[in-house]
Amino acid sequence: MESSAADDLDRAAECILRSRHVIALTGAGLSVESGIPPFRGPGGIWTRYGEPPMDGYQRFLADPVKAWEERLDPSGPMRELWETLSAARPNAGHRALVELEELGILRCTITQNVDDLHRAAGSRAVLEIHGNATLIRCIQCVERFPRKAIDFATLPPRCPLCDGILKSDTVAFGEPIPPDVLGRCFEEAELADCMLVAGTSATVYPAAQFPITIQERGGDLVEVNPYETELTALCQHTLRGTAGEVLPRIVERVRALR
Ligand code: APR
Repeated sequence: MESSAADDLDRAAECILRSRHVIALTGAGLSVESGIPPFRGPGGIWTRYGEPPMDGYQRFLADPVKAWEERLDPSGPMRELWETLSAARPNAGHRALVELEELGILRCTITQNVDDLHRAAGSRAVLEIHGNATLIRCIQCVERFPRKAIDFATLPPRCPLCDGILKSDTVAFGEPIPPDVLGRCFEEAELADCMLVAGTSATVYPAAQFPITIQERGGDLVEVNPYETELTALCQHTLRGTAGEVLPRIVERVRALR
Protein backbone atom coordinates (compact mmCIF):
# COMPACT_ATOMS: atom_id res chain seq x y z
CA MET A 1 0.00 0.00 0.00
CA GLU A 2 1.55 3.31 -1.00
CA SER A 3 2.60 5.67 1.82
CA SER A 4 -0.19 8.28 1.45
CA ALA A 5 -2.90 5.60 1.67
CA ALA A 6 -1.14 4.15 4.74
CA ASP A 7 -0.99 7.61 6.30
CA ASP A 8 -4.68 8.21 5.54
CA LEU A 9 -5.48 4.89 7.22
CA ASP A 10 -3.45 5.79 10.31
CA ARG A 11 -5.05 9.22 10.57
CA ALA A 12 -8.50 7.66 10.32
CA ALA A 13 -7.60 5.06 12.98
CA GLU A 14 -6.23 7.77 15.30
CA CYS A 15 -9.41 9.79 14.80
CA ILE A 16 -11.52 6.76 15.76
CA LEU A 17 -9.33 6.08 18.82
CA ARG A 18 -9.48 9.65 20.17
CA SER A 19 -13.28 9.85 19.66
CA ARG A 20 -15.67 9.40 22.60
CA HIS A 21 -18.71 7.88 20.83
CA VAL A 22 -18.13 6.22 17.45
CA ILE A 23 -21.04 4.94 15.37
CA ALA A 24 -21.31 3.63 11.82
CA LEU A 25 -23.71 4.21 8.93
CA THR A 26 -23.71 1.47 6.30
CA GLY A 27 -25.40 0.98 2.95
CA ALA A 28 -25.67 -1.44 0.05
CA GLY A 29 -21.94 -1.15 -0.71
CA LEU A 30 -21.21 -3.13 2.49
CA SER A 31 -22.97 -6.15 1.02
CA VAL A 32 -21.64 -5.97 -2.56
CA GLU A 33 -18.80 -8.36 -1.64
CA SER A 34 -21.51 -10.71 -0.31
CA GLY A 35 -23.01 -10.87 -3.80
CA ILE A 36 -25.85 -8.34 -3.37
CA PRO A 37 -25.82 -5.59 -6.02
CA PRO A 38 -26.01 -1.94 -4.91
CA PHE A 39 -28.96 0.23 -5.93
CA ARG A 40 -27.14 3.08 -7.62
CA GLY A 41 -23.86 3.59 -9.45
CA PRO A 42 -22.09 0.92 -11.53
CA GLY A 43 -24.07 -2.36 -11.53
CA GLY A 44 -26.84 -0.84 -9.39
CA ILE A 45 -30.32 -2.43 -9.52
CA TRP A 46 -32.04 0.93 -10.02
CA THR A 47 -29.30 1.87 -12.54
CA ARG A 48 -30.24 -1.21 -14.57
CA TYR A 49 -34.02 -1.36 -14.04
CA GLY A 50 -34.86 2.26 -13.18
CA GLU A 51 -35.98 3.60 -9.78
CA PRO A 52 -39.14 1.91 -8.43
CA PRO A 53 -42.37 3.95 -7.93
CA MET A 54 -42.06 6.15 -4.84
CA ASP A 55 -45.55 5.23 -3.58
CA GLY A 56 -44.90 1.59 -2.63
CA TYR A 57 -46.49 2.02 0.80
CA GLN A 58 -49.66 3.69 -0.52
CA ARG A 59 -49.99 0.80 -2.99
CA PHE A 60 -49.63 -1.67 -0.11
CA LEU A 61 -52.36 0.07 1.91
CA ALA A 62 -54.64 0.28 -1.15
CA ASP A 63 -54.39 -3.47 -1.89
CA PRO A 64 -52.43 -5.49 0.72
CA VAL A 65 -53.50 -8.82 -0.85
CA LYS A 66 -51.98 -7.88 -4.22
CA ALA A 67 -48.88 -6.50 -2.49
CA TRP A 68 -48.41 -9.77 -0.61
CA GLU A 69 -48.98 -11.88 -3.74
CA GLU A 70 -46.20 -9.87 -5.44
CA ARG A 71 -43.98 -10.21 -2.35
CA LEU A 72 -44.45 -13.97 -2.12
CA ASP A 73 -43.86 -14.40 -5.88
CA PRO A 74 -41.63 -11.47 -6.89
CA SER A 75 -40.61 -10.72 -10.49
CA GLY A 76 -37.96 -8.60 -12.24
CA PRO A 77 -35.59 -6.53 -10.03
CA MET A 78 -37.28 -7.56 -6.78
CA ARG A 79 -36.83 -11.26 -7.63
CA GLU A 80 -33.12 -10.63 -8.28
CA LEU A 81 -32.83 -8.67 -5.01
CA TRP A 82 -34.56 -11.28 -2.83
CA GLU A 83 -32.69 -14.18 -4.47
CA THR A 84 -29.26 -12.58 -3.88
CA LEU A 85 -30.30 -11.64 -0.34
CA SER A 86 -31.28 -15.17 0.63
CA ALA A 87 -27.99 -16.59 -0.71
CA ALA A 88 -25.74 -13.93 0.85
CA ARG A 89 -23.29 -14.41 3.77
CA PRO A 90 -21.45 -11.74 5.77
CA ASN A 91 -18.09 -10.57 4.36
CA ALA A 92 -14.86 -9.22 5.88
CA GLY A 93 -16.41 -5.74 6.07
CA HIS A 94 -19.26 -6.94 8.29
CA ARG A 95 -16.83 -8.92 10.46
CA ALA A 96 -14.53 -5.90 10.88
CA LEU A 97 -17.43 -3.88 12.34
CA VAL A 98 -18.11 -6.75 14.77
CA GLU A 99 -14.47 -6.57 15.90
CA LEU A 100 -14.69 -2.78 16.42
CA GLU A 101 -17.83 -3.35 18.51
CA GLU A 102 -16.14 -6.10 20.56
CA LEU A 103 -13.20 -3.75 21.19
CA GLY A 104 -15.75 -1.42 22.80
CA ILE A 105 -15.01 1.25 20.16
CA LEU A 106 -18.03 1.01 17.85
CA ARG A 107 -21.15 1.80 19.88
CA CYS A 108 -23.80 1.27 17.20
CA THR A 109 -24.28 0.49 13.51
CA ILE A 110 -27.12 2.23 11.70
CA THR A 111 -27.70 0.23 8.52
CA GLN A 112 -29.86 0.98 5.51
CA ASN A 113 -29.51 -2.68 4.46
CA VAL A 114 -32.41 -5.07 4.94
CA ASP A 115 -30.21 -8.17 4.40
CA ASP A 116 -29.69 -9.13 8.09
CA LEU A 117 -25.93 -9.55 7.41
CA HIS A 118 -24.73 -7.35 10.26
CA ARG A 119 -26.66 -9.53 12.72
CA ALA A 120 -25.54 -12.70 10.97
CA ALA A 121 -21.91 -11.54 11.34
CA GLY A 122 -22.43 -11.06 15.09
CA SER A 123 -23.05 -7.31 15.45
CA ARG A 124 -25.25 -6.62 18.49
CA ALA A 125 -25.86 -2.85 18.45
CA VAL A 126 -27.58 -2.64 15.06
CA LEU A 127 -30.35 -0.24 14.05
CA GLU A 128 -32.02 -1.31 10.79
CA ILE A 129 -33.50 1.98 9.62
CA HIS A 130 -35.04 0.42 6.48
CA GLY A 131 -36.14 -2.75 8.27
CA ASN A 132 -35.08 -6.40 8.01
CA ALA A 133 -36.19 -8.71 5.19
CA THR A 134 -36.32 -11.74 7.55
CA LEU A 135 -38.93 -10.02 9.75
CA ILE A 136 -42.65 -9.24 9.43
CA ARG A 137 -44.08 -6.15 11.13
CA CYS A 138 -47.61 -5.21 12.19
CA ILE A 139 -48.53 -1.83 10.71
CA GLN A 140 -50.82 -1.20 13.73
CA CYS A 141 -48.85 -2.20 16.85
CA VAL A 142 -45.36 -2.24 15.18
CA GLU A 143 -44.64 -5.68 16.71
CA ARG A 144 -42.15 -7.71 14.66
CA PHE A 145 -42.15 -11.47 14.03
CA PRO A 146 -39.69 -13.83 12.33
CA ARG A 147 -40.98 -14.50 8.79
CA LYS A 148 -41.07 -18.26 9.42
CA ALA A 149 -43.49 -17.74 12.35
CA ILE A 150 -46.18 -16.31 10.04
CA ASP A 151 -48.75 -18.33 8.08
CA PHE A 152 -49.37 -16.90 4.59
CA ALA A 153 -52.31 -19.22 3.76
CA THR A 154 -54.71 -16.25 4.12
CA LEU A 155 -53.69 -12.84 2.76
CA PRO A 156 -53.05 -10.32 4.10
CA PRO A 157 -51.60 -12.10 7.14
CA ARG A 158 -52.87 -10.70 10.47
CA CYS A 159 -51.04 -9.76 13.66
CA PRO A 160 -51.42 -12.52 16.30
CA LEU A 161 -51.43 -9.78 19.00
CA CYS A 162 -53.75 -7.03 17.68
CA ASP A 163 -55.18 -8.47 14.45
CA GLY A 164 -53.62 -5.57 12.54
CA ILE A 165 -52.38 -6.09 8.96
CA LEU A 166 -48.87 -7.53 8.69
CA LYS A 167 -46.33 -6.34 6.10
CA SER A 168 -42.68 -7.10 5.50
CA ASP A 169 -40.53 -5.21 8.01
CA THR A 170 -38.66 -3.69 5.05
CA VAL A 171 -39.63 -0.01 4.73
CA ALA A 172 -41.37 0.66 1.41
CA PHE A 173 -40.85 3.88 -0.54
CA GLY A 174 -43.32 6.41 0.87
CA GLU A 175 -43.56 4.57 4.22
CA PRO A 176 -42.65 6.44 7.42
CA ILE A 177 -39.65 4.90 9.23
CA PRO A 178 -41.00 3.00 12.30
CA PRO A 179 -40.74 5.43 15.25
CA ASP A 180 -38.94 3.00 17.57
CA VAL A 181 -35.95 2.58 15.23
CA LEU A 182 -35.92 6.22 14.05
CA GLY A 183 -35.93 7.50 17.63
CA ARG A 184 -32.92 5.34 18.51
CA CYS A 185 -31.04 6.48 15.37
CA PHE A 186 -31.47 10.15 16.28
CA GLU A 187 -30.33 9.40 19.85
CA GLU A 188 -27.15 7.75 18.59
CA ALA A 189 -26.48 10.53 16.08
CA GLU A 190 -26.84 13.08 18.91
CA LEU A 191 -24.31 11.19 21.07
CA ALA A 192 -21.75 10.52 18.32
CA ASP A 193 -18.60 12.57 17.74
CA CYS A 194 -17.34 10.27 14.98
CA MET A 195 -19.15 8.34 12.25
CA LEU A 196 -17.75 5.63 9.98
CA VAL A 197 -19.73 5.97 6.73
CA ALA A 198 -19.27 2.81 4.66
CA GLY A 199 -20.82 1.71 1.39
CA THR A 200 -23.54 4.32 1.03
CA SER A 201 -24.21 6.99 -1.59
CA ALA A 202 -25.68 9.05 1.28
CA THR A 203 -28.57 10.21 -0.91
CA VAL A 204 -31.59 8.76 0.91
CA TYR A 205 -33.10 10.59 3.89
CA PRO A 206 -33.46 10.50 6.84
CA ALA A 207 -30.37 8.21 7.00
CA ALA A 208 -28.24 10.65 4.98
CA GLN A 209 -29.00 13.40 7.53
CA PHE A 210 -27.13 11.68 10.40
CA PRO A 211 -23.56 12.23 9.10
CA ILE A 212 -24.42 15.84 8.23
CA THR A 213 -25.77 16.42 11.77
CA ILE A 214 -22.64 14.90 13.32
CA GLN A 215 -20.32 16.97 11.11
CA GLU A 216 -22.26 20.18 11.80
CA ARG A 217 -21.83 19.55 15.53
CA GLY A 218 -18.04 19.36 15.06
CA GLY A 219 -17.81 15.57 14.80
CA ASP A 220 -15.59 13.64 12.38
CA LEU A 221 -16.67 11.59 9.37
CA VAL A 222 -14.59 8.67 8.04
CA GLU A 223 -15.82 7.60 4.59
CA VAL A 224 -15.10 4.15 3.12
CA ASN A 225 -16.18 3.92 -0.51
CA PRO A 226 -14.48 3.08 -3.80
CA TYR A 227 -16.12 6.15 -5.35
CA GLU A 228 -16.80 9.79 -4.42
CA THR A 229 -20.23 10.46 -2.89
CA GLU A 230 -22.44 13.43 -2.00
CA LEU A 231 -20.85 13.30 1.45
CA THR A 232 -17.15 13.20 0.49
CA ALA A 233 -16.66 16.96 0.74
CA LEU A 234 -17.86 16.90 4.38
CA CYS A 235 -15.57 14.03 5.44
CA GLN A 236 -12.38 14.54 7.47
CA HIS A 237 -11.08 11.15 6.32
CA THR A 238 -11.76 9.48 2.96
CA LEU A 239 -10.52 5.93 2.36
CA ARG A 240 -10.96 4.83 -1.26
CA GLY A 241 -11.50 1.11 -1.57
CA THR A 242 -14.07 -1.57 -0.91
CA ALA A 243 -15.55 -2.20 2.54
CA GLY A 244 -14.21 -5.76 2.57
CA GLU A 245 -10.66 -4.48 1.99
CA VAL A 246 -10.58 -1.22 3.94
CA LEU A 247 -12.58 -1.94 7.11
CA PRO A 248 -10.32 -4.85 8.22
CA ARG A 249 -7.30 -2.57 7.67
CA ILE A 250 -8.86 0.10 9.87
CA VAL A 251 -9.32 -2.52 12.63
CA GLU A 252 -5.71 -3.63 12.19
CA ARG A 253 -4.43 -0.04 12.61
CA VAL A 254 -6.79 0.65 15.53
CA ARG A 255 -5.46 -2.46 17.31
CA ALA A 256 -1.86 -1.45 16.55
CA LEU A 257 -2.25 2.20 17.63
CA ARG A 258 -4.40 1.90 20.76
N1 APR B 1 -17.53 -1.41 -0.72
C1 APR B 1 -17.90 -0.16 -0.28
N2 APR B 1 -18.74 0.66 -0.98
C2 APR B 1 -19.17 0.21 -2.17
C3 APR B 1 -18.80 -1.05 -2.71
C4 APR B 1 -17.94 -1.87 -1.92
N3 APR B 1 -17.55 -3.09 -2.32
N4 APR B 1 -19.40 -1.20 -3.92
C5 APR B 1 -20.12 -0.06 -4.13
N5 APR B 1 -19.98 0.79 -3.09
C6 APR B 1 -20.59 2.11 -2.87
C7 APR B 1 -21.01 2.85 -4.13
O1 APR B 1 -19.95 3.66 -4.61
C8 APR B 1 -22.17 3.71 -3.61
O2 APR B 1 -21.68 4.96 -3.11
O3 APR B 1 -21.77 1.88 -2.14
C9 APR B 1 -22.72 2.91 -2.42
C10 APR B 1 -24.06 2.25 -2.66
O4 APR B 1 -25.00 3.27 -2.83
P1 APR B 1 -26.54 2.91 -3.10
O5 APR B 1 -26.63 1.84 -4.10
O6 APR B 1 -27.21 4.21 -3.36
O7 APR B 1 -27.02 2.26 -1.72
P2 APR B 1 -27.48 2.97 -0.38
O8 APR B 1 -26.72 4.22 -0.12
O9 APR B 1 -27.48 1.95 0.67
O10 APR B 1 -29.01 3.35 -0.74
C11 APR B 1 -29.83 3.87 0.26
O11 APR B 1 -31.77 3.62 -1.14
O12 APR B 1 -32.88 2.42 -2.71
C12 APR B 1 -32.86 2.75 -1.38
O13 APR B 1 -33.75 1.53 0.42
C13 APR B 1 -32.68 1.54 -0.49
O14 APR B 1 -31.42 1.39 1.57
C14 APR B 1 -31.37 1.82 0.24
C15 APR B 1 -31.24 3.32 0.14
